[in-house]
Amino acid sequence: MSRLIRALIDTAALRANLARIRAVAAGSRVIAVVKANGYGHGAVTVARALESADAFGVARLEEGIALRAAGVTHPIVLLEGVVTREQLHEAAAHRLELVVHEAGQVALLQAWRGPHRFTLWLKLDTGMHRLGFREEAYRDALARVAALSVPAAALRAMTHFACADERASPVTPDQIARFNAVAAPLGLETSLCNSAGVFGWPGAHGDWVRPGLSLYGVSPFSGESAASLGLTPVMTLMTTVIATRQVARGECVGYGGLWRAPRDSRVAILAAGYADGLLRGLAHGTPVGLLGRRVPLVGRVSMDMIAVDITDLPGVEVGTPAELWGGSLPVEEIAAHAGTVAYELLCGVTQRVAFETTTGVVTI
Ligand SMILES: Cc1ncc(COP(=O)(O)O)c(C=O)c1O
Repeated sequence: MSRLIRALIDTAALRANLARIRAVAAGSRVIAVVKANGYGHGAVTVARALESADAFGVARLEEGIALRAAGVTHPIVLLEGVVTREQLHEAAAHRLELVVHEAGQVALLQAWRGPHRFTLWLKLDTGMHRLGFREEAYRDALARVAALSVPAAALRAMTHFACADERASPVTPDQIARFNAVAAPLGLETSLCNSAGVFGWPGAHGDWVRPGLSLYGVSPFSGESAASLGLTPVMTLMTTVIATRQVARGECVGYGGLWRAPRDSRVAILAAGYADGLLRGLAHGTPVGLLGRRVPLVGRVSMDMIAVDITDLPGVEVGTPAELWGGSLPVEEIAAHAGTVAYELLCGVTQRVAFETTTGVVTI
């Protein structure tokens, strides 16, 4: 059954983006971040397409388990680590690598009796102040981890940037300096960079980079297009015109009557609403692609539908396909119209949308 709204996932673009990241961070291995269901693209689909990645990164235990259930054998890094003894056992059973960012996690590892030996990523808080040990506590945690009765299979040092997407920000150089001061003398393998770090801070690539957004062909920098970074959008969100109608000058369209036709107008109704992942906050004028042109969204986004003004675009009829974002309408641009970032739009695409890869229909 063909659905009215579809997310087309271009697996060749995913691979091209990984190749681009490898070229930019040439000396580093790549942890492809596929948390949040591969940023809404389908984690298993993405992992299968990115078989040449060195590892995958997920936020939650269940995300790692789902990849294992799908047959993914790569190293998988659990970016938030575990919180309970049960989770530690599950992580061991599924051979997940752990980020260790707070004292309770060290205590769990101290009580661990094996046989599994974890690969551990000890996280330093260099200024983000979300996860990670502060410098004094880091050395203490390191000493404890080094003395575990079941030794780590590997121990690595990591941090995370708060402002890497702001190229002129003094925060990132400060974070890099703090990280190097602590990590360099340890001689451990390192990981610092998200997408913005990969493209913006070449001096900080370290041994492993952790790109997410850029893999999906989205720019991490506002005002810099993905194309200018050599990235190709992976998701194209397509929908369908389900009605067209005439609206007389002065008549309103949609809930709340927010848009009043300034002239006699023709409007197309599209099968896409906030139940599909469009944000209700998308503003009037947000572009929608129809017949190779851009037309403006008018009125309020409702649960299942939006309206666009097609007065100046002949040829639109029921069944005409429409692009909500993708190859010719960057998702970054659409996000800006809702006052948000591309991450939120991509992660928010719902199960009502049919996902299709360039090689066929998939279930996510
Ligand atoms: C610890 C960590 N590393 C890497 C990433 C990937 O970041 P981005 O999608 O900006 O490349 C994230 C995402 O939030 C993260 O939390």
